[in-house]
Amino acid sequence: MKRLLLIVSGGIAAYKALELARLAAKAGYSVTPVLTKAGAQFITPLSLQALCGAKTHMDLFSLTEESEMGHIELSRAADLVVVVPASADILAKMAAGIADDLATTLLLATDKSVLVAPAMNVRMWEHAATRANMALLKARGVLVVPPDEGPMACGEFGPGRLAEPPVILSAIAGLLGKNNMLAGRHAIVTSGPTHEPIDPVRYIANRSSGRQGHAIAAALAALGARVTLVSGPVNIPDPPGVDIRRVETATEMLKAVESAMPADIAVCAAAVGDWRTTTPASHKIKKNSTPPALQLMENPDILAWIAAAGPQRPRLVVGFAAETQNLTDFAAGKRVVKNCDWMVANNVAGTGIMGGQENEIMLLTARGAEAWPRMDKLELAHRLALRIGEVFA
Ligand code: CTP
Repeated sequence: MKRLLLIVSGGIAAYKALELARLAAKAGYSVTPVLTKAGAQFITPLSLQALCGAKTHMDLFSLTEESEMGHIELSRAADLVVVVPASADILAKMAAGIADDLATTLLLATDKSVLVAPAMNVRMWEHAATRANMALLKARGVLVVPPDEGPMACGEFGPGRLAEPPVILSAIAGLLGKNNMLAGRHAIVTSGPTHEPIDPVRYIANRSSGRQGHAIAAALAALGARVTLVSGPVNIPDPPGVDIRRVETATEMLKAVESAMPADIAVCAAAVGDWRTTTPASHKIKKNSTPPALQLMENPDILAWIAAAGPQRPRLVVGFAAETQNLTDFAAGKRVVKNCDWMVANNVAGTGIMGGQENEIMLLTARGAEAWPRMDKLELAHRLALRIGEVFA
């Protein structure tokens, strides 16, 4: 059984550490919790203890605890140390090597890998001091599950929200190699929209956020796959543990995919622009002339190209079908026409799915259609990754 030392520091996101503790215990990890003084302002040692099934440690100078297990031993008995949430304060202390309570002493004394999941107000996250601390910690080998972007408890909006517990758990699983069902496999994932230029300042795009594709890339990496994520322009953090290739246009996306081949798995989640302008203007088009008529031509179909790649064709090719009507028929047709093995079909008509946090899909395979309930895009990514893992088991 793999052992985690779970350090919970202060912040409103501390309640999510309880969910992580619950999931980790359920996944079969032995979890030893450590709660800082600030963390104890948000959750109780008892709730943490109940979910982990192990005593919550809080004091550096506790005679009973030192006689049961000294802090040096506590810091080394784990296979992995995780700090969730990691506040700006604890990150600064880690960067400076300060050891003024049990948690920071353990972090300084440990000889094991440390994974941090930061959570804080967006201004604190973007402050030069935090940026510098994070750069230093990363350079020292501290692993990071980056925060999400979204509305925060303090009323502001931006990056700084703690990553969702299932994402942190898959990062843990990936590091501890617990679930390595895709080890040795290479997966290419396309994600996000494309931008097709009209002139140097204007482009044709779509509403894709890249959330679903990025989550799938992270979930495949967590199962041990080597993942190349080819991403169009997005405003979300890079998923941990993947090789990311950033592109703008469909033509660039195809080139990046070609150069990443061969692969065992391809998941085409990108909302690739179907058309591009035949000749983007080299200077900004001025308004004083009549409105321009855009001459469009078709973009290469990346999914169809991968699925027709002959001997290089990945063993499993998964496409996405975003439809606003006749979902099953259109998606089933696309699965056959594009020669892919699975088609993930979703209805994007006025449902807030495109660009949103949740997704509701039908999984179409050669065996038929399965309707999946509406769920968070992260959870969907993990379920899909596990299904992919079963193909290679
Ligand atoms: N796709 C692709 N390259 C393109 C267009 C689509 O790789 N140039 C992939 C998408 O990543 C997705 C699948 O094809 O996996 C289906 O995309 P979708 O936009 O639903 O279908 P289209 O082929 O564009 O058909 P239509 O727009 O007519 O619905």
